Amino acid sequence: MPMRTWTNEERYKYLEDPSELLGLYEDTKDSVYRQTYHIQAVTGLINDPNGFSYFGGKWHMFYQWCPWGAVHGLKYWYHVVSEDLVNWKNVGVGLKPEEEYVYDNKGVYSGSGYSLEDKLFLYYTGNNRDDDYIRHPYTCLAKMDKEGRIEKATHPLFKEHPDYTEHQRDPKLVAFPEKNRYYIVIGARTKDERGCILIYGSQKPASDYEFLGELKVPGYESFGGMWECPSIEHIGDKDVLIFCPQYLKLPGRGNGTNQNVNIVGRMDWDDLIFTPEKDFSVLDEGFDFYAAACAFNTKDERTIMSAWMGLPDVSYPTDEEDWSGCLTLPRELSIKEGRLYQRPVREIVSIRDEELDITDNEDGIYELPKTYELLIDVKSKDFKISLFTDERGEGGLSLRYDSEAKLLTFDRGNMKTTFNENEGFTRGSKLIDDLYKLQIYTDKSSVEIFVNDGEATFTSRVFPDESERYLAFHAGEVDMKAWSLKTSVDQTFVI
Ligand code: FRU
Repeated sequence: MPMRTWTNEERYKYLEDPSELLGLYEDTKDSVYRQTYHIQAVTGLINDPNGFSYFGGKWHMFYQWCPWGAVHGLKYWYHVVSEDLVNWKNVGVGLKPEEEYVYDNKGVYSGSGYSLEDKLFLYYTGNNRDDDYIRHPYTCLAKMDKEGRIEKATHPLFKEHPDYTEHQRDPKLVAFPEKNRYYIVIGARTKDERGCILIYGSQKPASDYEFLGELKVPGYESFGGMWECPSIEHIGDKDVLIFCPQYLKLPGRGNGTNQNVNIVGRMDWDDLIFTPEKDFSVLDEGFDFYAAACAFNTKDERTIMSAWMGLPDVSYPTDEEDWSGCLTLPRELSIKEGRLYQRPVREIVSIRDEELDITDNEDGIYELPKTYELLIDVKSKDFKISLFTDERGEGGLSLRYDSEAKLLTFDRGNMKTTFNENEGFTRGSKLIDDLYKLQIYTDKSSVEIFVNDGEATFTSRVFPDESERYLAFHAGEVDMKAWSLKTSVDQTFVI
C-alpha cells in the first residue's frame, strides 16, 4: 500500500478555518467504506473515544481527531451527541490545541468526562512540546455548559511527575461524591520502561489534586511498557481494571504489540492496590479494538463502553483515501462468574430496517446487503459459516467452532483485501459454554460479533469489494434471522 509521508509541519498544522477541510471532506465522504452506524471522523483520522458521558439530557462523545488525513498528528476532541446512543449528530470541535494556552500546544490528548450540576467537566492530557521538542504532559480541565460552550481552566490540574518518563496521560476521573473523594488515574511508563498507573486524589473534582502513588497490581509488575487509557470501573459487586498495555505480545495474537485488556478484581482506594481475582483477558478477541472508555453515566445503572475500532502503529486500506478509523458500537458491560460480558446497547434494535429472508437456500448461500444484523441460534455442536464470500460461497471471513476444543476461530485471511499482516489473520476464543448464539453486525467496513450473549466479542475492520456480499453456511444446524440496518450517524460537514 503506497503510504503518504507527512512532515511534522503538515501533520501538526493548526486548523484556522473550516473551509481548509472542505476539499478533503468532499473527496472522502462518498467512499464505499464510509460507515453508516458507527461514529467516524468528519475528515481525517479518528482514534480514542473521549469524555463519554451523559449530560443535559444527552449522551456526549468526543473523539481524538486529526483533521488532516490518515495520520496521527495534531489531535483535537471532536464532539458528537445522541439521545439514544444510536443516532449521533455532529456538533463540531469540542477542544482544540492552542499555541497561546501552551499546555496543549501539540495536542489535546485523551481523557474522560464527569457531569456535575450544570457543567460537564472534561479531563484531558495537554500534550505540550517545548522549544527543544521535548514532550511535557499536563493533566488539564475544561468545563462545558448546557449550551455547549467549553472553557479551559486557567491552569492545568497538575503537571508530569518527575520520577516517570514523559509518557503520562489519559486521565480518567473516578468519583465518590458521597465521600468527597475524587481520583484521577493516569497511564504511565516508568524510567525502567514498565507500564503502570499513577493515582492522584482530591476532595474536590476540579482542584487540589495531590499525587497518591503508583497503583499496585500484584502479578502485573512487568506487563508491557506503557499503560494507555486506564480506567477502574465498578460493575455489580466487582471492580474492573481496563487498560492498554503497549509493547506486549500475547500468544495467538500475531506480532502486534498493542493490546486492550481487563482484569476483574477488587480495588482498594486506601492502599492503592488492585487485587486481581482472575487472570487478565483481552477485552475483545478481534483485530481492531483499542482505547476502550466507559461513559460517566448519570442516566441509568448501566456501564457503557465504546472503543476505537483501530490500533496504533498500523495502516488501513482507506489511508490511501486520506481517512481512517471509527468507533465501536457502544456496549453494555456486566459481570458473570467473575468474567466481563459485553452486549451491544439495547437501543441498537432501533436501527433494524427490514427483516431479510435467509431461510433454507439449498446451497446455503445468501446474498445480503452491506449492512446487516444477523442473529444465529446454534443448535449443533460444530459449526462454520463465512461472511463476505463471493457468489459461489468462496473466500470471505470465516467463523468456525470446534466443540471438542471449545474454540471459536475467526479468520479474515481469505478476504480479497488483506491488511496488517503483522497482526496475523486468525483469532480464537476459548469459550466457557458451548457455542449457542452469535449476534453479528456488519457495517460498510467492519464486523462486530457478540458470542453467547457477550461472553466474547470479535471486532474487526474488513474491506469487502462489490463481489464479497454473500453469506455461506458450511456446517451445523441453526436458526437464523437477519435485518438490514438504517443509517444512524451524521455525515454533515460541521467543524
Ligand atoms: C491511545 C493514545 C493515548 C493518547 C492518544 C493520542 O490511542 O495514544 O494514549 O492520549 O492516543 O491521540
